[in-house]
Amino acid sequence: MAAKTLLLALLAMASSLAMASDPSPLQDFCVADKDSKVLVNGFVCKDPKVVKAEDFFFRGLDKAGDTGKKLGSNVTAVNVNKLAGLNTLGISMVRIDYAPRGLNPPTLTPRHGDPHRQLFVGFVTSNSDNGNRLFTKMLKKGDVFVFPQGLIHFQFNPGYTNTVAIGALSSQNPGTITIADAVFGSKPPISDEVLAKAFQRWQPKSSSSLLAMASSLAMASDPSPLQDFCVADKASKVRVNGFVCKDPTVVKAEDFFSTGLDKAGDTGKKLGSNVTAVNVNKIVGLNTLGISMVRIDYAPKGLNAPHTHPRATEILTVIEGQLFVGFVTSNSDNGNRLFTKMLKKGDVFVFPEGLIHFQFNPGHTNTVAIGALSSQNPGTITIANAVFGSKPPISDEVLAKAFQITRMAAKTLLLALLAVASSLAMASDPSPLQDFCVADKASKVLVNGFVCKDPKVVKAEDFFFRGLDKAGDTGKKLGSNVTAVNVNKLAGLNTLGISMVRIDYAPRGLNPPHTHPRATEILTVIEGQLFVGFVTSNSDNGNRLFTKMLKKGDVFVFPQGLIHFQFNPGYTNTVAIGALSSQNPGTITVADAVFGSKPPISDEVLAKAFQVDKKTIDWLQAQF
Ligand SMILES: *[C@@H]1O[C@H](CO)[C@@H](O)[C@H](O)[C@H]1NC(C)=O
Ligand SMILES: *[C@@H]1O[C@H](CO)[C@@H](O)[C@H](O)[C@H]1NC(C)=O
Ligand SMILES: *[C@@H]1O[C@H](CO)[C@@H](O)[C@H](O)[C@H]1NC(C)=O
Repeated sequence: MAAKTLLLALLAMASSLAMASDPSPLQDFCVADKDSKVLVNGFVCKDPKVVKAEDFFFRGLDKAGDTGKKLGSNVTAVNVNKLAGLNTLGISMVRIDYAPRGLNPPTLTPRHGDPHRQLFVGFVTSNSDNGNRLFTKMLKKGDVFVFPQGLIHFQFNPGYTNTVAIGALSSQNPGTITIADAVFGSKPPISDEVLAKAFQRWQPKSSSSLLAMASSLAMASDPSPLQDFCVADKASKVRVNGFVCKDPTVVKAEDFFSTGLDKAGDTGKKLGSNVTAVNVNKIVGLNTLGISMVRIDYAPKGLNAPHTHPRATEILTVIEGQLFVGFVTSNSDNGNRLFTKMLKKGDVFVFPEGLIHFQFNPGHTNTVAIGALSSQNPGTITIANAVFGSKPPISDEVLAKAFQITRMAAKTLLLALLAVASSLAMASDPSPLQDFCVADKASKVLVNGFVCKDPKVVKAEDFFFRGLDKAGDTGKKLGSNVTAVNVNKLAGLNTLGISMVRIDYAPRGLNPPHTHPRATEILTVIEGQLFVGFVTSNSDNGNRLFTKMLKKGDVFVFPQGLIHFQFNPGYTNTVAIGALSSQNPGTITVADAVFGSKPPISDEVLAKAFQVDKKTIDWLQAQF
């Protein structure tokens, strides 16, 4: 009898399964075109020329959902259906309201009202993990909990007051499978006989059989290609992530071919370098294949100025002459370390994804290099162009604050920086290959991410973090403070491709222009107001700036790898909660990485990049 009651209770639990993972973006963004009749994986893309800041924006997450229905909970989802800019970016957000004794699905961070408001949460592992173990935890305000991809989970408000939670999911459209509905409410129904048989073992035992039966599939998805090839059909008017495929029967060898990489580019322009790119725009056969090639020519003293590729790692070999190369690590790696190397003919060097890098020919003869990039359309973000040359420009106030100089100096620097060529190459996290892989920080073995703890000793605490209700100290110079809950603070995030931040902004506080080399960010304002913006890569009609003034309950997306900022223009504190599509998104603060690396990037490289004299560069470096 008790089992029966428990069965009904469990069936009533709304559990959800999110399987496989989203594809990686193949361009800066691909805003969903809901009007299109064409069906693709996700949505086809709107014409980028008509994309507006509103496409990355949603208003109303401050409003409680109606919890009057029988389960006493209500999920307000901000997915690609409500926020078209999320298409291809692999992330979304939810607000969940729980009435007293209210029960329901996904995610994190209870907040609001008195500190006694609480939430009882749990998830069940798959059949493979020693048979469907249940992990539970009682959460209070400021606590964070992770539900690994695809596992059945629930949340329950055991208290006498309402509870509110904000969650983020690592898919633009995570989907939800409510077990009870799926098993007992399918159309047409699963036959009585099947169900009777399926559940026979269950009644006298525990909940595990039912959960096992309905348990989840957490699997990795194949990267890019889903067929031998998908030659880009440039004639098609349909916009998708990348390009639609040509009819394979008319595909020819020429589609995989381009000529002329033996020809030097003209290095006569001011920086003395020229990049000839062979990407999907030149070889249509590269579509969906995740690779492209470049030839770079450098005149004597020629510079390929600091830049990043938002969607690629680069590997490069010197064919003629010599080349001084370098890249700067993200803020988290002991603060923007500079790695440099003098290359000669035949040498090969790698620029890791998303990191700012440059090449300089210190010799008296021409240099030629051939590089390959791990994207069909890696994109390039020239730091100075993106930061100081966006259209329309980022406000003087934001730039002056970010670079800690006067507005006048910002304007001068702006002109100088327009010349800097910087690039960022970004990747996304690999998909999980098991239910979870809790980071074993004690292990000496170094892998991509962390090695996994023995699952037998994994505890609910491994998926848990406490304290996101506490404001960070905004007293430092920029007036903002980011509290990040990434894999370093929450070991259970390892391999799951998601993390969370709380950002506090004092009045006039700035989170200065930065990028996350491995993640898209989705953010909602909890208190106060926020002026936000991001700048597209060089390829998108030249560094367009998208801005929006956000108020409480608004949601905004910053596409993967793009330079973005947030500024509190008000006279009161602002608080935002964000989620990022990586367990360790990394942050590259543009000003710090360029002017404050250790050791510093040479005067000569920076002076040339910014087209100013070395004294100015020395002065700038002294500011960081
Ligand atoms: C959730 O709340 C919204 C807004 O109050 C309401 O329109 C909707 O019907 C509710 N959904 C459920 C399942 O109760
Ligand atoms: C690079 O070289 C090509 C071919 O000589 C030329 O058309 C192009 O304008 C050059 N680009 C730059 C930025 O100098
Ligand atoms: C952010 O706030 C925390 C907690 O108040 C503080 O320890 C930390 O130093 C602050 N960080 C910055 C960069 O101000």
